[in-house]
Amino acid sequence: MKALVLAGGSGTRLRPFSYSMPKQLIPIANTPVLVHVLNSVRELGVTEVGVIVGNRGAEIEAALGDGARFGVRVVYIPQDAPRGLAHTVSIARPFLGDDDFVMYLGDNMLPDGVVEIAEDFNRQRPAAQVVVHKVSDPRSFGVAELGPDGEVLRLVEKPQQPRSDMALIGVYFFTAAIHEAVAAIAPSARGELEITDAIQWLVSSGADVRARIYDGYWKDTGKVEDVLECNTHLLNGLTPRVDGQVDADSVLVGRVVVEAGARVVRSRVEGPAIIGAGTVLRDSHVGPHTSIGRDCTVIDSRLEGSIALDEATVTGVRGLRNSLIGRAASVGTTGPGTGHHCLIVGDHTRVEVAA
Ligand code: DAU
Repeated sequence: MKALVLAGGSGTRLRPFSYSMPKQLIPIANTPVLVHVLNSVRELGVTEVGVIVGNRGAEIEAALGDGARFGVRVVYIPQDAPRGLAHTVSIARPFLGDDDFVMYLGDNMLPDGVVEIAEDFNRQRPAAQVVVHKVSDPRSFGVAELGPDGEVLRLVEKPQQPRSDMALIGVYFFTAAIHEAVAAIAPSARGELEITDAIQWLVSSGADVRARIYDGYWKDTGKVEDVLECNTHLLNGLTPRVDGQVDADSVLVGRVVVEAGARVVRSRVEGPAIIGAGTVLRDSHVGPHTSIGRDCTVIDSRLEGSIALDEATVTGVRGLRNSLIGRAASVGTTGPGTGHHCLIVGDHTRVEVAA
């Protein structure tokens, strides 16, 4: 089996971060989503991975390289524009050949793994097998109607009136039968070749299409709130480790990782939390549920339920919560007694100050 990992697309829901980086490289527990995806693929014993990249391909190549660090071999497949998930299958055909493959959306996190689901596919080899999860509002997902034995009766992409609460969650298993289906469909109302339509084409032509329910934790990390929630979930499973320096006036409580070269001075870190390599924390209180990236500076501040990306600086701010701070961004104060705020705010940024 091969893997096709999708890391193209536009990422407009993750602005302003997606202006400066591909959304699939947003770190969750200090590891890019795409690396979590590669780890999940490798768990299946799959080592041949085609990665679909769009106009930010260079950054993705810089992050993943040839895949050797993650135990896989990565081949990059450029897509000229986000023409849909089924379009990626057609441009990947030379890489895929007639092999079975798992298609994995590069912004979806299934940290409990899909090993058993893959084993079912390998044993039964239906034409296609989708992975579904019960959601409270299925309208922003592909939705599957299932028969009593897990057979797929009908699939609809982002229906206004969903007839089931089973959403497609970004992992699909295919035999070569999918290629005929992809060639047969037309673009949807939003102008994309939908994989949901291709799978529905298989269902309509009488092919064996099944669904397996994934009961574990799942998150589409397409929005800031989802990134923060997923970060909280992953940090809950953190294995504590201190490779950096923690001075005698500091306290670490619970599951805390202090990476090599980080320095914690006169501070309290409340787990679960990660302090990235080379970061300096001074006179601050960080956590719980907080990830600080590499080479950040946090001074005289209080930060919880948040993520700071690499090289961010936070100085003198005592009430940061549920915040996502971008690379090399700086959050500070205008000084004591000034009584005003000063904001240098980029496009599509959101600022919420205490009322
Ligand atoms: O998250 C699960 C949902 O993902 C499913 O329920 C839907 O059925 C499925 O269509 C998909 O919906 P989204 O609207 O969330 O897809 P998105 O545009 O975010 O693209 C998913 C990933 O695929 C993302 O990493 C970007 C990448 N992509 C997307 C398109 C349209 C590509 O690489 N090329 C593309 O042309």
